[in-house]
Amino acid sequence: MGRVSGKVALVTGGSMGMGESHCKLLAREGAKVIVTDVAVDAGEAVAKAIRDAGGEAMFLRHDVASEADWMAVVDKAVGAFGKIDILVNNAGIVVFKPNNETTTAEWDRVMSVNSTGVFLGCKHIVPAMKKAGGGSIVNISSISGMVGMVSQAAYQASKGAVRMLTKSCAVDYAQYNIRVNSVHPGAVRTPIINVLGDDTSMIDALVATTIMKRMADPIELSYAVLLLASDESSYMTGSELVVDGGWTAA
Ligand SMILES: NC(=O)c1ccc[n+]([C@@H]2O[C@H](COP(=O)([O-])OP(=O)(O)OC[C@H]3O[C@@H](n4cnc5c(N)ncnc54)[C@H](O)[C@@H]3O)[C@@H](O)[C@H]2O)c1
Repeated sequence: MGRVSGKVALVTGGSMGMGESHCKLLAREGAKVIVTDVAVDAGEAVAKAIRDAGGEAMFLRHDVASEADWMAVVDKAVGAFGKIDILVNNAGIVVFKPNNETTTAEWDRVMSVNSTGVFLGCKHIVPAMKKAGGGSIVNISSISGMVGMVSQAAYQASKGAVRMLTKSCAVDYAQYNIRVNSVHPGAVRTPIINVLGDDTSMIDALVATTIMKRMADPIELSYAVLLLASDESSYMTGSELVVDGGWTAA
């Protein structure tokens, strides 16, 4: 308990999957949490569950691809809690297609959420973090942002952009006492894989080539996010934390 006590955390895509898990763990460890997402009912439920458990949380509707939304959300969050110390850029979407089958609309949609969303977050959070005397930005990339994989062209490009934007911001923001790191999950059991429908062959292949021979539970990623969000990682910036059951090690 208390690893992020007194801190204020904003988590995008906090309504379900890993984002929900990150929100709940950060709250259990003492942070006030702003849950943001386009999925309103589920997000309200996450914030309520945190409050019911004795924590402090609010939900804000937030499309991460919208610059106007980012400005409004940061304003409201600072208005409610006074500052923001932690930003988890978690919201993401996936299209499972090779590049030659990807439409321009699909490419634009994936890049706007996964890459532009992170760019905007890393940009508009700076004044609030400066006000807090510094902060920690945790960008959720993927092992897909590190090595080539089957049928994920736009997704891989978007997550590779997150990986390098993280390092760029780490270099630029050190002067403000803002650390910026990326997390690279392997296969995690969340609703994002629902787009695959009943065809589990892609996930089965990923699990088969994972050293630990299983998918992760979201909480196993949340502990990595907590480390980077907390002062325990005070000398980490621009780093890549791979949490993939050994997939990229083999
Ligand atoms: N699940 C995996 O195996 C896996 C692996 C590597 C990386 N990731 C990454 O982890 C992050 C979380 O993924 P997840 O598996 O929990 O997915 P998920 O689909 O369970 O949750 C994603 C959340 O993002 C929200 N979202 C989607 N578009 C949004 C937008 N424009 N603005 C705001 N919110 C939006 C959704 O409503 C949802 O609540 C994503 O960035 C994903 O790419 C997931």
